[in-house]
Amino acid sequence: MDLLQEIEKLENLFTIDTAKLKQITEHFVNELEKGLSVEGGSIPMNPTWVMSFPTGYETGTYLALDMGGTNLRVCQITLTDQKSEFDIIQSKYRMPEELKTGEADELWEYIADCLMQFIETHHGDSVKLDKLPLGFTFSYPATQNYIDEGVLQRWTKGFDIAGVEGHNVVPMFEEALRRRGVPIKLTALINDTTGTLIASAYTDTKMKIGCIFGTGCNAAYMENCGSIPKLAHLNLPPDTPMAINCEWGAFDNEHKVLPTTPYDETIDRGSPRPGQQAFEKMIAGLYLGEIFRLVMVDLHDKPGTHIFDGQDISALRKAYSLDSSFLSAIEEDPFENLSETAELFHNRLGIYTSGPELELIRRTAELIGTRAARLSACGVAAISKKKGFASCHVGADGSVFNKYPHFKARGAKALREILEWPEKANEKEEDPIEILAAEDGSGVGAALIAALTLERVKAGNMHGILHPENFK
Ligand code: BGC
Repeated sequence: MDLLQEIEKLENLFTIDTAKLKQITEHFVNELEKGLSVEGGSIPMNPTWVMSFPTGYETGTYLALDMGGTNLRVCQITLTDQKSEFDIIQSKYRMPEELKTGEADELWEYIADCLMQFIETHHGDSVKLDKLPLGFTFSYPATQNYIDEGVLQRWTKGFDIAGVEGHNVVPMFEEALRRRGVPIKLTALINDTTGTLIASAYTDTKMKIGCIFGTGCNAAYMENCGSIPKLAHLNLPPDTPMAINCEWGAFDNEHKVLPTTPYDETIDRGSPRPGQQAFEKMIAGLYLGEIFRLVMVDLHDKPGTHIFDGQDISALRKAYSLDSSFLSAIEEDPFENLSETAELFHNRLGIYTSGPELELIRRTAELIGTRAARLSACGVAAISKKKGFASCHVGADGSVFNKYPHFKARGAKALREILEWPEKANEKEEDPIEILAAEDGSGVGAALIAALTLERVKAGNMHGILHPENFK
């Protein structure tokens, strides 16, 4: 077996050169436009009814509930009198794996139970519960004709719960609360990206885009109502801001420009929603380990290659058994002889690895991680181009952004290639567009969005409010 040759093949499959990055970005810009049009496109470009940036002077106490892909989090946030400052108390609960493909009722009951438990443990009597506005971060594509509703377009991130797609999730959630006698009213349903955008802008006014690179991937930015043809019938003032949750994970579901590999195709076919989230399936944390696993299994089974020859690889055959932290660990192995990677393979999978196999493993991880970072940069470049941002900050959050080795540097390098920035004069110099660690979007961001919504309702802007009675 010639592993060098295999490495070369993988390099050809997974490498995205500058010209391709630019081509993807160009197509991305058009698709963002299309999503805003009346006809629509693959990228949903959901208006969110978040209609301003925070000033930094928002105040008050709020509850925030965050249903991401992996954890459930409940927070109580106080926006203090000090500019851009806040206090937060929070509890995290692991989302049981079986809930993700279970029954809708069980999901809402679980969420309501966590919220109730949080209130019982943390909530004093200082503020009456029914006066405490709640921001619910529901990080899935949802149509919002109003900020206090969200019709689930489709589940992503491996979720598959019947009876929720096509329905407004707010009454389902509120009903579960009502059954427990919890007198909480939802003020705003938000996406994690919109929360990230608003939370980041609370402390840094250069923030123009909010991104999540985690279990899923996505971004939000502020558009002008006049540039959203699908809202034209509402006659909103053209220069009024409106945050758009792009749902860019759905970019290029038609596979016009994305250089997919046979491994990506296998992932798509085996997922609960084949044909959906094409971009996300090449980038997001849920899939990175699985892409890697598929490559390894393929190279074991392939006649003439047979890595891990003669060994029992049954542990490796289990779908979704390796998450992105497994790849991170490989990429982080500091030793020349990759001894930590060898240990990892042995301890986790019961597989012994030779020197050349370890080289192949490391290179595969690098290729998958690098492709994810470079593709992510196309999305950031596309929004920046569409909006004409020559310089700004981008707030990013999520496990891949925060924990995956070199993700930030690889993304920044790709952005430089796409946008053709000259080399930096020195290391300390900022890039024109910097992707930085965001503030906590689904906690502080949700609280801020609740605050901004209450404020605008008080000022008489009733656009996108379904239940005005809840805002009194
Ligand atoms: C969801 C988005 C979310 C992203 C990051 C995607 O799968 O569709 O709504 O923002 O994951 O959590």
